[in-house]
Amino acid sequence: DKALAELVAGHVVDVPDFPQPGILFKDITPLFGDGPAFRQAIDAIVDHHGRDSFDVVAGVEARGFLMAGAIGYATGAGVLPVRKAGKLPREVHAASYALEYGEATLEVHIDALKPGQRVLVVDDVLATGGTAEATLSLVEQAGGMVAGFSVLIELAFLHGRDRLAPREVHALLTV
Ligand code: PRP
Ligand code: MG
Repeated sequence: DKALAELVAGHVVDVPDFPQPGILFKDITPLFGDGPAFRQAIDAIVDHHGRDSFDVVAGVEARGFLMAGAIGYATGAGVLPVRKAGKLPREVHAASYALEYGEATLEVHIDALKPGQRVLVVDDVLATGGTAEATLSLVEQAGGMVAGFSVLIELAFLHGRDRLAPREVHALLTV
């Protein structure tokens, strides 16, 4: 949808060489900060998948939390926080991945989902796809079914979509 892509594009600031030289950081805080624009983006994600297609929405720490919380509240779905290593107090499933810069591990509690629960996974940016791949694997490790995957922005030149194939990637804006 061209209008949505323009909405997102109009609320992103490109920051060169952050957090390190050679990385062009997509700062989406202006989108979160604009109430009507944020609501439109959140509603567009829900509408794309359909409210009845998921039971739980999973957001990836940290920026994905903002989206998952909003979608959970708007739809009445539960929220699954996919956390960075060492934050969750009980037994966890873990998945490690190499990031565009650095490396990380994501975790969810082993009882975070009921068997077969349908999980919509959301994050702000799809870059290399490492974060998404780890998150989708965690949903399955926890006994859930991935109902869909949405991001605000896809960085096509990093080919995250190929890494996740054949799963559909829904991006409001592809650059
Ligand atoms: C950023 C972004 C995505 C991820 C995408 O998160 O919010 O989650 O990178 O990169 P990938 O597709 O190459 O894995 P980051 O881990 O930098 O941290 P934050 O969300 O906590 O700011
Ligand atoms: Mg992130």
